[in-house]
Amino acid sequence: MSCVVVVGTQWGDEGKGKVVDLLTRQADVVVRFQGGNNAGHTLVVGKDKFILHLIPSGILHTSKKCLIGNGVVVDLEVLQQEILALQERGIAVSPKNLGLSERAQLILPFHKHLDLAREAQKGKASIGTTGRGIGPCYEDKVARIGIRVVDLLDPEVFAERLKTNLIEKNFIFENFLKVPPIDPQAVINTYGPLTEFIRPYVTNVSLRIEEALSENKNILFEGAQGTHLDIDHGTYPYVTSSNPVAGSVCHGSGVGPTRIQSVVGIVKAYTTRVGGGPFPTELTDEIGLALREKGGEYGATTGRPRRCGWLDAVVLRDSARLNGLTQLAVTKLDVLTGQKKIKICTGYSFNNQTLTSMPARLKTLEACRPVYEEWEGWSEPIEGIRKRANLPQAAQKYLNRLEELVRVPIGIISVGADREETLFPDNPFS
Ligand code: IMP
Repeated sequence: MSCVVVVGTQWGDEGKGKVVDLLTRQADVVVRFQGGNNAGHTLVVGKDKFILHLIPSGILHTSKKCLIGNGVVVDLEVLQQEILALQERGIAVSPKNLGLSERAQLILPFHKHLDLAREAQKGKASIGTTGRGIGPCYEDKVARIGIRVVDLLDPEVFAERLKTNLIEKNFIFENFLKVPPIDPQAVINTYGPLTEFIRPYVTNVSLRIEEALSENKNILFEGAQGTHLDIDHGTYPYVTSSNPVAGSVCHGSGVGPTRIQSVVGIVKAYTTRVGGGPFPTELTDEIGLALREKGGEYGATTGRPRRCGWLDAVVLRDSARLNGLTQLAVTKLDVLTGQKKIKICTGYSFNNQTLTSMPARLKTLEACRPVYEEWEGWSEPIEGIRKRANLPQAAQKYLNRLEELVRVPIGIISVGADREETLFPDNPFS
């Protein structure tokens, strides 16, 4: 019996989907614990490409059970589409292998409406959200006016909570944001059939995890977004509204902290960020563009181009501490092939000082300049390599330096998009 957590160490899009998919081979149960359909995990299996937003990537292995925990905010229309799309492609999805927490909060049409209207009103000062209603849904949860999956199952409770919530929201829509109000009856009409579709999947996720643990099963917790998008520890306010750090597994799924054995931090071999906010190692030159094109750095959820830059050890050291990382999984190493010189940021220069952790003050962070080390690049293709010792010398040196700076060993190295293009020396379940 083992519980392994996978988290992103940067600003999301580190390639968690592929690593989760690989680790799922050793897991019996895969659990999502935070975020919503702002996430987008791209998986490549042979010639097939799957993009999942809500359902854990483990669903592609039909013998595994996938659970969506209470900490996830769920847009049921998206969940239904995802289930139907997988079924159409021959993947078995049923209440036997997918469960949804009765305590999860629902993203409703007015959350998306609010997210988009606020972003439009902020103009240049916008966060660059995914527009999926994530922030407004978490706000309602904390304000204790949210609507949970269990409320939906009781049509009277759902209608009453919806109407009450919309009194305030519609006032804001009409009088402050100057956008049309939402008709509660239209939402009720849409959600009636959806409720019946989803009802068989609803369960107590905490109990299901406890049962699995008592049967000595392996559990994989699949994080979404990245550590520096964390509402508490990220580059606030340019963050998401959940806690992508590993500690959030406990309250987002209902498992106790003493049950967790290892935490794998996914590190893209360079850095990307989508949306607004500080990004000290951002490259706005042709190298940044080349990384974007070669790495296919376009959002899986919104299609937006991602900002690209060099690897940032300040970001990674903070992540190692905040998540208690036990190993790193380096992804997209192949994207760096062909770069003559490769840089790693080891600290930030600010007011004649060198900072080695992220400052909380946004203005300080914006004024920070990266302090770089320069390393030799490599030109040989590495997709076919399966042993770390067979990688080009320059690539090995880059990885060794990364381990040294972050002080966490590398357990997995991905050298291409396919499942097989992976060096897997250290299994976190063993
Ligand atoms: P929200 O989560 O839609 O509210 O967006 C808040 C910020 O987090 C924006 O900068 C988004 O681009 C970013 N974000 C949210 N989800 C992801 C993700 O899965 N990958 C990368 N960035 C994300």
